[in-house]
Amino acid sequence: MTELVVRRLLVDMEAPIARHWCDGDPFRTAFLNALSMSFPVGEQFFIDAVRAGWKALPPAEQARLQADVQGFVGQEATHRRLHGLYNGHLEALGLENRWAPRALRRQRRLEGLDPRHALAVTAAFEHFTSILADWMLRRPERLGQRDPRLATLWLWHAAEESEHRHVAFDVYRALGGDEAWRIRWFRRITVFFITDALRQTLHNLRRDGTLWRWSTWRAGAAFLFGRDGLVRGNRGPWRDYLAPGFHPHDHDASAAEAWLAAHAGDYVPVARPVAPASPGEAVAGAAVRVAAA
Ligand SMILES: [Fe+2]
Ligand SMILES: [Fe+2]
Repeated sequence: MTELVVRRLLVDMEAPIARHWCDGDPFRTAFLNALSMSFPVGEQFFIDAVRAGWKALPPAEQARLQADVQGFVGQEATHRRLHGLYNGHLEALGLENRWAPRALRRQRRLEGLDPRHALAVTAAFEHFTSILADWMLRRPERLGQRDPRLATLWLWHAAEESEHRHVAFDVYRALGGDEAWRIRWFRRITVFFITDALRQTLHNLRRDGTLWRWSTWRAGAAFLFGRDGLVRGNRGPWRDYLAPGFHPHDHDASAAEAWLAAHAGDYVPVARPVAPASPGEAVAGAAVRVAAA
């Protein structure tokens, strides 16, 4: 199994972002910007869920999953930081993030419940991100090259999502999470995810002044529902998660491996799993190294 490496991406996220950075296409730009807006609060929730679940495991299981959990925390913490910078530029462009406060309100409802709920939610979102990631990695031209920084940021994030797609799932299973809960949460998260992504995309287009243009929706329909579009291209991989016995490793991750191998000059590895004195130190250590990177 591949070791989860934390990478520092060599892109300058301090420079501003153009209004229609994605191929000059308002719809794709608004959609991807919407996803970016959800990441800082979403990924913090995933980190907290995986950490809490891992801490609840018996020592032998903690030791078995420790390197994966450490890599997962480090990768998601790095994603949060870069998407935070990205989202700062979106704010400067006049966009308003309504997804994050809504997600935070929902997250609070899980506080104090069995940690397997938050883990099942995390595993469900991780399935979404990993199938979208694979779809994007196989069609990098959809990101355009008007802003190579953002094309690289999205593909690097996609590759790491594909790489760590199994971690929350494995912690959920190690805690005895059952298939019925997992599938029930996935159905619920599907509704939340699609609704939230659509609402934020519409709001971004409204703020951008391109919501009521025919060309916006023609491009949007092709992106979502065209041959090999986002919805049509992901229906099968989405459905796979509903099968009892499914595991994220049932899906191929070769597109992510190929991207990481071909773009080794775009990042620097900053943390590798080490053998700590206790499992708790491993997880804390990853976060510290990432914060210092
Ligand atoms: Fe991420
Ligand atoms: Fe993730």
